[in-house]
Amino acid sequence: MVITAINIVETVCQLPVNFADVRILEVYSMNMNELTTIESVIRARHSVRNYESRPLGEGDRALVQEAITAACDPKNMLHPADIRIQLVRGAGKNSTSSGSGGMKLGTYGVIRGASDYLALAVPRENPPIEAAGYALERVILRLSEAGLGTCWLAGTWNRSSFLQAAGESFGMDLLDPQSSHMLVAVTPVGYDAGKKHAIDSFIRFAAGSRNRKPWKDIFFAVNPTSGLEGLESEAAGELALPFDMVRCAPSASNRQPWRLVRDGEAVHFFSDGTYGEALGFNMHLLDLGIAACHFDLSCRSRGISTRPLFDKSPEHLRDLLPATWTWRFSYTLIS
Ligand SMILES: Cc1cc2nc3c(=O)[nH]c(=O)nc-3n(C[C@H](O)[C@H](O)[C@H](O)COP(=O)(O)O)c2cc1C
Repeated sequence: MVITAINIVETVCQLPVNFADVRILEVYSMNMNELTTIESVIRARHSVRNYESRPLGEGDRALVQEAITAACDPKNMLHPADIRIQLVRGAGKNSTSSGSGGMKLGTYGVIRGASDYLALAVPRENPPIEAAGYALERVILRLSEAGLGTCWLAGTWNRSSFLQAAGESFGMDLLDPQSSHMLVAVTPVGYDAGKKHAIDSFIRFAAGSRNRKPWKDIFFAVNPTSGLEGLESEAAGELALPFDMVRCAPSASNRQPWRLVRDGEAVHFFSDGTYGEALGFNMHLLDLGIAACHFDLSCRSRGISTRPLFDKSPEHLRDLLPATWTWRFSYTLIS
C-alpha cells in the first residue's frame, strides 16, 4: 500500500477543562486522497519482528527525532506529563552497528536484525502510563506512515541491557530503583525484512494478532431502559470510523482491554481487568493510551472535535458496569 504524507497541523481548539493551556491537534489529509488519511496508516500498521540488519539512515533518524519531539510536546499529549522517548542504538544480533555503547539489546529472539530502538520512560511517581501509550503510538504512526517497521515491546525485552543503554541516552541511571524515571516499553524501529521468523509467527498465532474482538464486545451504548447494549458499526453514526480505528489498535498480547461506552455527547474509556502488573505497572493502561491516540487522531481527521476529561467519572453508570471494568477517562464530543 502506498501511503503519502499526512499533514499534521496544530490549531488552537477548545481547551480541555483541566488543562487550561493545552492545545489539541488537528490531523487531516493533505490532498484528500483516500490513501493519505490517518485511517490508512492505522490499518497498515502491524508489528514487525524481523528487520533488515542495516541501521537507520540519517534521513530516517532525523524523521524519528522529529516525531519524538512532536509527540513529547505537552500540547500534543493526552495530557501534559514528563514522558521521555529516546532513540537507542545497540548492536543487534545480525547488526554490524556498534551503537553508542555497542551493547546487544536482547529481546529473547523475538526481534531479529534491528539495532535501533525507541525507549519509553515515565516518572516513577504517579506514572502517566496512558499518556505514555498515547505519545509512543503517535510516534509509531508517524514512522508507519514513513514505511518504517515497529513493534511495541513491554514484556519481551531484556531489562539489564535496555536499562543500561537507554539510561546512557536519557542521561540517568535507570538501573537504580531510586531513579526518577522507569522504562515501560521499547520498540525496534527499522526496515521490515519481509519474511516472518518462527518466533514471530508463533507469537502472532498465539496472540491471534490478525483478529480483533467483535464490535459489540468492546463498544457499548447506554439504553435508558435496558442498560448497556453492545454497539454495532451501523448504529455508531459519526463515531463508526473512530471506533473502528480503536479496534485496529495494537494491545499487549492482543488482549484488547478497551471498553468504550457512548453516553450522549461523551465516550467513556474503561479498562477491562489488569495485566502484567509484575512489571510494576498495569500494561492495559498503555493499551488505553494507544486506543485514545487512534480515537483522537481519527476523530480530528473527520472534523469531530473532542476534549479529554480525567476528573469526571460517569457515576450514573456505576450499577450498569461489569465489576472488572475500571473507568480511566472520557472524551466529550464538542459540537
Ligand atoms: C503495550 C503492548 C505491549 C506489547 N508487548 C509485546 C511484547 O513484549 N512482545 C511481543 O512480541 N509483542 C508485544 N506486543 C505486540 C502485540 O502482541 C501486538 O500488537 C498484537 O498481537 C496485535 O498485533 P499487531 O500489532 O500486528 O496488530 C505488545 C503490544 C502492546 C500494545
